[in-house]
Amino acid sequence: MSIATAASAAYIVAALLFILALAGLSKHETARSGNTFGVAGMALALVATIGLAAGGGIGAVDLALLAVAVLIGAAIGLQRAATVEMTGMPELIALLHSFVGLAAVLVGWNGYLRVADAGSDEARQLESLGMLGIHHAEVFIGVFIGAVTFTGSIVAYLKLSAKIRSSPLMLPGRNVLNLGALAVFAALTAWFVIEPRLWLLAVVTVLALALGWHLVASIGGGDMPVVVSMLNSYSGWAAAAAGFLLENDLLIVTGALVGSSGAYLSYIMCKAMNRSFLSVIAGGFGIEAGPAEDKEYGEHREINAEGVAELLTGADTVIITPGYGMAVAQAQHGVAELTRVLRERGVDVRFGIHPVAGRLPGHMNVLLAEARVPYDIVLEMDEINDDFAGTSVVLVIGANDTVNPAATEDPSSPIAGMPVLKVWEADQVIVFKRSMASGYAGVQNPLFFRDNSAMLFGDAKDRVEDILSAVRQVAAV
Ligand code: TAP
Repeated sequence: MSIATAASAAYIVAALLFILALAGLSKHETARSGNTFGVAGMALALVATIGLAAGGGIGAVDLALLAVAVLIGAAIGLQRAATVEMTGMPELIALLHSFVGLAAVLVGWNGYLRVADAGSDEARQLESLGMLGIHHAEVFIGVFIGAVTFTGSIVAYLKLSAKIRSSPLMLPGRNVLNLGALAVFAALTAWFVIEPRLWLLAVVTVLALALGWHLVASIGGGDMPVVVSMLNSYSGWAAAAAGFLLENDLLIVTGALVGSSGAYLSYIMCKAMNRSFLSVIAGGFGIEAGPAEDKEYGEHREINAEGVAELLTGADTVIITPGYGMAVAQAQHGVAELTRVLRERGVDVRFGIHPVAGRLPGHMNVLLAEARVPYDIVLEMDEINDDFAGTSVVLVIGANDTVNPAATEDPSSPIAGMPVLKVWEADQVIVFKRSMASGYAGVQNPLFFRDNSAMLFGDAKDRVEDILSAVRQVAAV
């Protein structure tokens, strides 16, 4: 069997492993095996690609360079993966997408330069097959998507890591600017296919870099996770475009998988936030709201850890709705322990997970799985939303926007229409947070002022520990 045939077979197996990885990652029970499939697929793809290059006769120096690049990349990747905080994941992903974009731009330019000389072997071969125009279109489109992904991801990274302001850049006529850039791109593509001039490629590169930057700069911080998933999709299409240029089937398949799954994930997130995909792209949301408006909400009530412990030990049913604050406080282990202790005492404890709780899809599920909370008591919003009425106590741990009744009750609220967990229907609601500050959308939460709500102030991890020791004291009596 030739190296090329072996590599093709390995590519098919790798593509199947990537599909199995996606399928596995869609459920928490199978997420670990999904990850293993993904790693195995990528390892196989790397070995096959290096084998193909070695068999294709690249020199020893090139091979050594390749090995050095792989080693440096692997070392950086391992170091980042080992040190990244869960809350820093979106910005790391954004940065990684920028590399995919940059790679697509470089592959595109390389693809152009290889055939720029009309007398070159490759140019003549493409010409004889009648494929030269298609090749030029692939170059142009690949460079465009790659450059948009590159600068867009860098801006997303800078916003998420608070290195630049996260509020949207509101240039006058920004939608016209974006649409205009797309129209110019379409016209330039046609021109480039007919007359593949270097300067046209340079112009589209600059245009796409500016468009990527502007597109993401004009979207507010609140929508950044959707943007990251959208850029994930773009990076997939950029990789697929590079796959066509490099005639690499696996890159085409993988790019299409990433492109379509990223687009679908963006759609799911938009649905959970009740936003249209186009309104996210058009930007403007995520403008920091002013201080808690002039509306009068009344007084809030406070409770201490001992009071909560008493409520919990006397409760029949408890639902915990975690949010971003649980992730920040790293309170999941204490929450898992509290759950275990209460269940031992016969209290029915379940979790209600909002689809956009936290800052990344599945954020809460990952944390709870890490703390070994049994999967069968972790329910999605739709599965549990009708059960709040009749529940004795709800613990809102570091969640805010996802439990805001204004979303369903106040049509003028910026988050009106967003589906939320109906925690206020329970007998008692305890809200864990450090202050009366608003959540990510910058919107005040009337839940805090309801008669059946009480605030437990402080870091969620510390307060959960306090409750645990109070519950243990009750148990010891
Ligand atoms: P948020 O509305 O962001 O509220 C989190 C709350 O946690 C804050 O009000 C904060 O109040 C509290 N908090 C922070 N650190 C804490 C700590 N150490 N201890 C205790 N409390 C702490 O959270 P959420 O309900 O999870 O909503 C998520 C938001 O992100 C939504 O607006 C959603 O649309 C947005 N978003 C999420 C995603 C994904 S995919 N998850 C995607 C796009 C947008 P204090 O400062 O007073 O403590």
